[in-house]
Parts: sequence; C-alpha cells; structure tokens
Amino acid sequence: MLTRAIPSTGEKLPVIVLGTYHAFDLDLTLAHEKQLGDVLSLFVKSGARLIDSSPMYGRAEQVIGTLTNKLGLRDKLFLATKVWTRGKQAGIDSMERSMSRLQTKQIDLMQVHNLVDAQTQLETIREWKAQGRIRYLGITHYNSSAFDQVEKILRLGTLDFLQINYSIMEREAEERILPLARDHQVAVIVNRPFGGGDLFSRVRTKPMPDWAREFDCTSWAQFLLKWIVAHPAVTCAIPGTNKPNHLEDDIRGGIGRLPDETIRRKMVDLVSRF
Ligand SMILES: NC(=O)c1ccc[n+]([C@@H]2O[C@H](COP(=O)([O-])OP(=O)(O)OC[C@H]3O[C@@H](n4cnc5c(N)ncnc54)[C@H](OP(=O)(O)O)[C@@H]3O)[C@@H](O)[C@H]2O)c1
Repeated sequence: MLTRAIPSTGEKLPVIVLGTYHAFDLDLTLAHEKQLGDVLSLFVKSGARLIDSSPMYGRAEQVIGTLTNKLGLRDKLFLATKVWTRGKQAGIDSMERSMSRLQTKQIDLMQVHNLVDAQTQLETIREWKAQGRIRYLGITHYNSSAFDQVEKILRLGTLDFLQINYSIMEREAEERILPLARDHQVAVIVNRPFGGGDLFSRVRTKPMPDWAREFDCTSWAQFLLKWIVAHPAVTCAIPGTNKPNHLEDDIRGGIGRLPDETIRRKMVDLVSRF
C-alpha cells in the first residue's frame, strides 16, 4: 500500500485507514466476532495500520480492544481515538476509559472530537504526550461549518494531525484548510470519503470510464478514495466498513497509480454530471 510521512516526525503511514463509526458498534456475538476479526486480519495483512475510533462510537473501542488483544494485533496497529466531552477532569476520565477499552498503555493518536472544548482537552493531551501515554495529537470535524474554528487552531502550529471531511462532492477543505495544513506541517486524515455512503447512490449504476484504468481503478470506491489520496496535502483517508469484501475493495484505493491534477478535475466533472 502507498504510504505518506507524518510531517511532524517522518513516520510513514499507509494511505487507507479503517473507520469504526457504526461499523464496529456491535455486540460481539460469535458471528460478529468472526466478521470483525476477518476485517482486522485482512486490514493488517494488507499492510494498513491506522484504525480510527471514538468514545462516541458506542461499543467500538471495546470491540477493537477485545479483538486486537485476542488476535495479537496491537503492535501492528496505529490506534487513533478521540476525546468528546467538556471539562478537564471529564476529559481525563474519558481518555483513561479509552485506554482501558482499547487494552493499551499508549494511544498513537488522540484527537479532540468535533472540537468539543478543544483548548482544555488539547492541554491535557499535550501533558499526556509529554508523559509518553499518547504519541500524536489532533483535532477532528466533519463539516465545513467548523472550518473557521479549525483554521484558528491550525494556525497555532501545535497539531500533529487534522481529521476533516473531504470528498469528490464536498471539496470546501481544498480552499483554505488543506493548504494551511500543508504550510503548518500537519498530517491530514480525511473522514467521510464516501459522504457517509451517499456518494454510492450517485455513482453505483453508472459505468466506470475507460480512463480509470490509467490509475489502476476498477471500482467506484477506489475511484472516490484515489481522488482523495492523490491530493498532495492528504496523508490518508478513512472509509468506514465492517465487511471484508468492502475493505478489500477500499484497500485497493491505496494501491497502484494515482490520478494527476488533470485527471482529478476530469473525475469531478464526471461525478458532477451524474
Ligand atoms: N467528527 C469525526 O471525527 C468524524 C465524523 C465522521 C466520520 N469519522 C470517521 O470517518 C469514518 C468514515 O466515515 P463514515 O463511516 O461516516 O462514512 P464513509 O466512510 O464516507 O461511508 C461509509 C459507508 O460506505 C460504505 N462502504 C464502505 N466501503 C464500501 C465499498 N467498498 N463499496 C460499497 N460501499 C462501501 C459503508 O457500507 P458498509 O458498511 O456496507 O461497507 C458505509 O455505508 C468513520 O467510520 C469515522 O471513523 C469521524
């Protein structure tokens, strides 16, 4: 899989991430354990590493912790989760719970979810980073309505990561946010690469153009993911799924040639016409 360097350290990350919102919020019945275990094993086997979760995603952190421990995968993963609460002590309690649910002594990336009480939570995350309990810090949002606030925090120059929405039909991030992240050497994780799944209703019944072969693309999921990871400021993209066949498809969105800027514009034109 293609990789990109995290600007603050140079550590390489594979460009496809696994999202766990809805997808991992499940009771671990025998059937779910087999299905999600297959997803995690396939993910690691493909060379991918980053899993994104949050205490907001119901049972997801617990499920990830249980399965990665059972399958012995912790060392192969880059675990990202979030803090989503107000107040210093509530933030500390939430991060302690995440550590315990994820069954780990160190979280690779802790993000302030949807900028909730960002200043307070970032202060604690910085303290935990200094103690070695967290390796990287970041913020997240999923909507361009928050971009003014995102921009203010980005300009402070203290973030390792920004997680933001960006997709072929939601391109506002490329106006100010992506260039600014690049200038400030902040890694960018793109969430909602399929617009939460809505983009599939737009493209599903349409034929894949012949020219998609020029960038090794054989499905709409790969088309939408390759469009994102080809942006020079993007570090990786997070498709959300709990289905092994969809994950296999998504992983191929991070393998082979990527579209150049001219082809990316052609891709936007095509999908805009559907
Ligand atoms: N504020 C935040 O921090 C924030 C906000 C939103 C999202 N996120 C993160 O970003 C991740 C992704 O966002 P999302 O899950 O909302 O939306 P998304 O990834 O844009 O779309 C998910 C949908 O795409 C479908 N899908 C995935 N791969 C597919 C494939 N190869 N073929 C066909 N359908 C496919 C999934 O269906 P199946 O389940 O059937 O595969 C699901 O319905 C989340 O899981 C979460 O980790 C963070």
